[in-house]
Amino acid sequence: MLANKPRTKILVDGGDPEETQRVKELIGFVDGQTTNPSLIAKNPEIRRLLASGHTLSPRQENDEYKKIVRSISPLVGEAGVSIEVFSETGTPAEEMLAQGEEMFSWIPNAYIKYPCTHEGLRAAQLSVARGIRVNITLCFSQDQAAAVYAATKGSKEPVYVSPFVGRLDDHGENGMDLVRNIRNMYKNGDGHVLVLAASIRHIDHLLASFALDVELATVPAKVLEEWAAKTFPMPDRDFNYKAVDIGGRSLRAIDYKELDLEVPWQSFDIAHELTNTGIQKFVADYRSTLRRPA
Ligand code: E4P
Repeated sequence: MLANKPRTKILVDGGDPEETQRVKELIGFVDGQTTNPSLIAKNPEIRRLLASGHTLSPRQENDEYKKIVRSISPLVGEAGVSIEVFSETGTPAEEMLAQGEEMFSWIPNAYIKYPCTHEGLRAAQLSVARGIRVNITLCFSQDQAAAVYAATKGSKEPVYVSPFVGRLDDHGENGMDLVRNIRNMYKNGDGHVLVLAASIRHIDHLLASFALDVELATVPAKVLEEWAAKTFPMPDRDFNYKAVDIGGRSLRAIDYKELDLEVPWQSFDIAHELTNTGIQKFVADYRSTLRRPA
């Protein structure tokens, strides 16, 4: 078991309560959990249903999702459980908000995940005004993170922003640079947005997140199990993150941008190709669990 808890809160990135329980026993605690449509589609119970020829109606899928987060909710600490709304590229904010309001009532420690798009940010703005905690997902640029800050200003609850490290790496860019840039940019702010390093693929991503002192990191059980097997290494003062992809090729640096956090959120350029492909993948994985219309 881990002797000294890192300052960075550790969340499990998954959709299976048994896995969360296993990680909790291994590490001694779990601060929180993030889920998404792809992870829910991989839940063992849902897979069993699909394997035995069952498919779900949207209502049944929703009920299964609720059941899963209700089992996870009491296992985790104060970083809560992030629950993602179903959204397609054209889903309006009001539709996301209606889902968010319902999901927020499922458990006492929910964070509602909205995509980092114009409508997602509008839904987040409406949500924080209603006291709903939010986690803005599929963040791939510093402009997007600036827009998250500006759109949620005044929130009484902490807001999470989730930069996707591994997916930027897959794209040839150093995802950890984005995390560092957002951290640095937020040092000029009021502290209402916390950085949640996401799409963590290996121990070095985790150690780099600790070294950058990010507030939260969401980590697949496989990586946490590997970290435990190595008896929980921590970055020392000389820790040097090697920005290479799985094949050992160097990743392109992402430069810091001077951005004014006080301008209206709509003035930031928030379009990002990886946000769009991320939404499409979530839609496809969600639909893979559904009954085909006759
Ligand atoms: C977390 O909130 C994300 O859904 C998750 O970290 C995505 O990771 P992936 O790129 O491995 O799918």
